[in-house]
Amino acid sequence: MDFVIAVDGPAASGKGTVAVGLGRRFALPVLDTGLLYRAVGVGVVRIGGDLDDEGFAARVASGLDAGALEDPAFRTRAAGEAASRVAVHPAVRQALKDFQRMFALQKGGAILDGRDIGTVIAPEAPAKLFVTASPEVRAQRRWKQLQAEGTTYQEVLADIHKRDERDSGRAAAPLVRAEDAVLLDTSQMTIDEAADAARRIVEAARARWEASSRPG
Ligand code: CDP
Repeated sequence: MDFVIAVDGPAASGKGTVAVGLGRRFALPVLDTGLLYRAVGVGVVRIGGDLDDEGFAARVASGLDAGALEDPAFRTRAAGEAASRVAVHPAVRQALKDFQRMFALQKGGAILDGRDIGTVIAPEAPAKLFVTASPEVRAQRRWKQLQAEGTTYQEVLADIHKRDERDSGRAAAPLVRAEDAVLLDTSQMTIDEAADAARRIVEAARARWEASSRPG
């Protein structure tokens, strides 16, 4: 595996922004793996399926066009909810695994952000971050992003609590910090400060990785 950066963390923790910033700094391609689960959730709803039907959701996951993840419908509050419901199914996770694994193994390295990158998809990644923030701060950030949908802060906070519970409580690849992931709590940070802190952590990991992979 080349230089892979695994960025995991709960909903609206800032992991996406951190991953994109790292992509720029290290000139690496970034995969937002949440979009895969969002695409499956939206796909199931669009064809009138049941999000709790594992076989149905897994078939949608197997037929997913991973080249078409830019649909704005994947960014909505409903898509996030649908994503976390299909993400509990082991068969869905399995169907999405090869694509993520191939992305991680591409030549030159890569960055993936999600929930189980450092634990399941790329446990051997040379750099791992676990990005978090308090539920209130995360709800505030997500509420701002969703302003156009007209939701209230209280609704978004309730969503965040529910999502944390579902993502951390599920049996298949629950959200946990990998033992060797560096914890980055962004509660008191601006986006720029968080990106900066992430950059420093990964620069240190990169130096260690270069030293250990030097021949001889
Ligand atoms: O940014 P936010 O957490 O709202 O959404 P996301 O990262 O797009 O993930 C949406 C949902 O997909 C999460 O709540 C997880 O249930 C699921 N997911 C997952 O199970 N594993 C991943 N690697 C990425 C997302």
